[in-house]
Amino acid sequence: MQYPRIIAHRCGGGLAPENTLAGLRIAARLGCRGVEFDAMLSADDVPLLIHDELLERTTSGRGPVAATRAADMTRLDAGSYHHRAFAGEPAPTLQQALAVCGELGLWANVEIKPSAGREGETGRIVARLAADFGEVLLSSFSRDALREAAIAAERLPRALLVDSAADDWLRSVGDTGADALHMAVELATPERVHALNVAGIPVACYTVNRRETAAQMFAMGVCAVFTDRPDLWAVDEM
Ligand code: G3P
Ligand code: MG
Repeated sequence: MQYPRIIAHRCGGGLAPENTLAGLRIAARLGCRGVEFDAMLSADDVPLLIHDELLERTTSGRGPVAATRAADMTRLDAGSYHHRAFAGEPAPTLQQALAVCGELGLWANVEIKPSAGREGETGRIVARLAADFGEVLLSSFSRDALREAAIAAERLPRALLVDSAADDWLRSVGDTGADALHMAVELATPERVHALNVAGIPVACYTVNRRETAAQMFAMGVCAVFTDRPDLWAVDEM
């Protein structure tokens, strides 16, 4: 599995509204080769790009994503919260986002982001849909979502996401059948990254918004960083 070194986090959410097609287009124009975004199920089981379980922070809607139908979600304004220049930008479906990645030649990391209690079905539905597209890596904090994704789309590579050092990562990667580990940058140490790499497990870190931090990560053996600021790197560094 070959990672792009610089991956636009939430489509590059520092420069555009997060998890939108506008973000994908800006990331591609900056020379990014890879993007990450979050996929969650609507009330009627359509995966859409959104990070929070509630609509309030990033859209003009209210209430839980899990209680909102896809047709209603795609009518919301998911751009104005970032800047009025993006007013009316919708929350895209996963299908739309992966189609645009295909057009733009972007490698995509689809983070399976289940609403609480919908872990397995979100993993299954997202993986089935993603299997129809090209270069896709699935990831999730939810081990149930990853296990279901593995059954639904055996061919797609998968990464376990971790935000705590409390558990045994090597064992967790083995238990979930993951191919890689994506960790919070604060957790990365040379010893931890080395131990994972020796076991053949690639490591990527989120969220890295400084060049110096990224350089430290690459020196440790981290293969990629997720960033809100892909504009900080030249095209030939990505
Ligand atoms: O996939 C890396 C990163 O996106 C995980 O954290 O909360 O930004 O989805 P979050
Ligand atoms: Mg994410």
